[in-house]
Amino acid sequence: MKIIVCLGTGGVGKTSVSAATALSLARAGEKALVLTTDPSLRLKTALGLQSGMTEQKVPGVDGDLWAALLDVHTTLNDAVRMNAKRGEEEKILQHPIYKTIASSLSGMNELMALERISQLMSRGYQTIVVDTAPSRHVMEVLDKPLMFADLSASKKVKLVSRTYKFVEAMGLMSVGRSALEVYARAEEILGGSLVKQILDFYSLFYPVAEAYAERARKTGALLRDPSVTEFRVVTTPQKAMRDTEFFLSELAKRKFPVNMVCINRCWLRPLGEKPAGGLAGEVADWYESVSASHRAAIEVVKNEFAESVGRICVLDELPRDVDGAEALRSLETQLTSSDPT
Ligand SMILES: Nc1ncnc2c1ncn2[C@@H]1O[C@H](COP(=O)(O)OP(=O)(O)OP(=O)(O)O)[C@@H](O)[C@H]1O
Ligand SMILES: [Mg+2]
Repeated sequence: MKIIVCLGTGGVGKTSVSAATALSLARAGEKALVLTTDPSLRLKTALGLQSGMTEQKVPGVDGDLWAALLDVHTTLNDAVRMNAKRGEEEKILQHPIYKTIASSLSGMNELMALERISQLMSRGYQTIVVDTAPSRHVMEVLDKPLMFADLSASKKVKLVSRTYKFVEAMGLMSVGRSALEVYARAEEILGGSLVKQILDFYSLFYPVAEAYAERARKTGALLRDPSVTEFRVVTTPQKAMRDTEFFLSELAKRKFPVNMVCINRCWLRPLGEKPAGGLAGEVADWYESVSASHRAAIEVVKNEFAESVGRICVLDELPRDVDGAEALRSLETQLTSSDPT
């Protein structure tokens, strides 16, 4: 099994490149899936998907191409059903605190992305291509779950969960003085019933969080394994140098393997016969100067990074938006045939 993660700043073509990558694998005979963690659902228009389905076979493609949208609610509910103690699933799903967490989805997106990758890995796909969302901080999709995993392994967090179970069984007086002070202080601030609700929820949810953390750690390890995972940085010529530097260094810090930088939306096609003078001539001059700056940017990135990155792939600006199979095939052809560096 392989995982390909496409990363990049906002609007550079992550979704288009992810979809084209999965398409090329499917056409080569693999069962491939593209998972989008982006709530804006651009993948739907790029692939011509139907609404209302979170995992579906992409229509009109010669190959086994699948697409999945990250549905944070469903992913979280599935994680509860899989990992809660028997008989406690409904207690969690109906718990007022759970409803609050599940309905305030900001921040859950990144946590659930790794969970979804892990859920999908067991479904027989040979490759999962992950189209990441433009997040507040581009590396959050990778950092947050692992931070959560570390947090849930911390002794203090484990202690709170255990102490509560103990309190429930034995009564408050059985708890040590310092823990009592913490509860008293929390009750003062939040009110007794809310504290009880939070602790009650926490003790129910703890096995789910622990199992989540365990899977996040395992998926995190797979993402660091170069025989399984490949990161692709998507960028545009204007931002190519800055983005490549930034992502390569951030990924290296986390020991994630990068195999490709895709410089998308390059103006490289020759103009052909150039109109002489007038507005058309001015537009042609402008095109040529932008084109020259794109070529220069590509050269700089190649010179600087060709050795450390497996491949630098250059993709043309298409005449239209990347919507539907025809445009994707055009990107796919370039992805598979672009000169390996
Ligand atoms: N090579 C290309 N030629 C022409 N248009 C392109 C190309 N690549 C992407 N686009 C267009 O640019 C827009 C942004 O592309 P896309 O949604 O793939 O980027 P993204 O990085 O996923 O964006 P976001 O950060 O918002 O998720 C889309 O309208 C898409 O059709
Ligand atoms: Mg996108």
